[in-house]
Amino acid sequence: MENGNRLLSSVVSSSMDMHVVYGGVVPEIAARSHIELINPVILQALVQAETSWDDIDAIAVTRGPGLSGSLLIGVLAARTLAIIKNKPLYGVNHVAAHVYANFITEAAASLAPNYRLPTTAPVFPVLALIVSGGHTQLVLFRDHFDYSLLGQTGDDAVGEAFDKVAKILGLPYPGGPNVEKKALEGDPKAFKLPKAKMPDKYDFSFSGPKTAVLRLAQQQIGEDYNFPSYKLAGRLSETQKADIAASFQQSAIDTVVDKTCLAYEEFRPKSVVVAGGVAASSALRKALSDRLPIAINYADVRLCTDNAAMIAALGCFMHIHTQPASNPYALSIEPNLQM
Ligand code: KG4
Ligand code: ZN
Repeated sequence: MENGNRLLSSVVSSSMDMHVVYGGVVPEIAARSHIELINPVILQALVQAETSWDDIDAIAVTRGPGLSGSLLIGVLAARTLAIIKNKPLYGVNHVAAHVYANFITEAAASLAPNYRLPTTAPVFPVLALIVSGGHTQLVLFRDHFDYSLLGQTGDDAVGEAFDKVAKILGLPYPGGPNVEKKALEGDPKAFKLPKAKMPDKYDFSFSGPKTAVLRLAQQQIGEDYNFPSYKLAGRLSETQKADIAASFQQSAIDTVVDKTCLAYEEFRPKSVVVAGGVAASSALRKALSDRLPIAINYADVRLCTDNAAMIAALGCFMHIHTQPASNPYALSIEPNLQM
């Protein structure tokens, strides 16, 4: 990344196909594939950017939140490089970095045709809806590095709920994109799913709606709550699956969009951004655009799910705004790092 807004290369090596057979990420497999791929990925990123270490001003790395095995490999690789290449090192919060995917507005000529980027950067104050496999949060940024957490989920994240609903319906992991695809064939009004009422208006809960989907699926095939969830997919018809997928998606999206609109009314931000893996959902993008009175500039879908460009983008802003760099001999991982 250059200046926090210009994409010079983006290389994502995913171990997802190794996890699909298990229906979810297996931390040990993720860490092992990280260790095998980290050096080739770094080299490829430098080649794609047509640059060399001489031109690199700083190194950014995710220090949390995330799986400890994978975080350790990234942080140790970055610390080693910072020491031998003598570059400042920035330990980045990966959830905050999802927001910075929205600041990537330009790409090198060789990449530009492949990316649909926002034309302008967000303007502060920025309201961020962060929706991923591990997080569901509303955050108000007054400026870079000056933000307040308005609310978050107390249990499951929205992406996690999509993944669990996909499992009930027998759709492959990761669930979000597959639920979205199945929902296209279904009726979002077929079933009314409950929405959690929270004491704090900007907080979320997705464990109730997920259980409601389980009960609905059991009831649809005429069984009670004792019926095992792993057998449901074999008994549901394709129409029932599509209707459940569409109804769940509608209800989950309504929940996050309702609260985003509420926060918009209260804080009147100049920009609204949506960040994290679930921001790849076209259904969510459409609902937000329909309901918010201001236009949203969406990040390219490939920059919404986990990627290093967003980590580097936030790293650039840390460097430009003279945030303290980390000690390359001591930077530690924080698997539960909060915003
Ligand atoms: O940000 P991310 O790549 O990883 C985490 O940091 O969690 O987000 C992954 C999550 C998964 O739960 C996945 O199911 C969800 O993003 N996701 C979607 C869609 N694409 C990815 N959820 C709903 N609709 C989508 N189209
Ligand atoms: Zn993420």
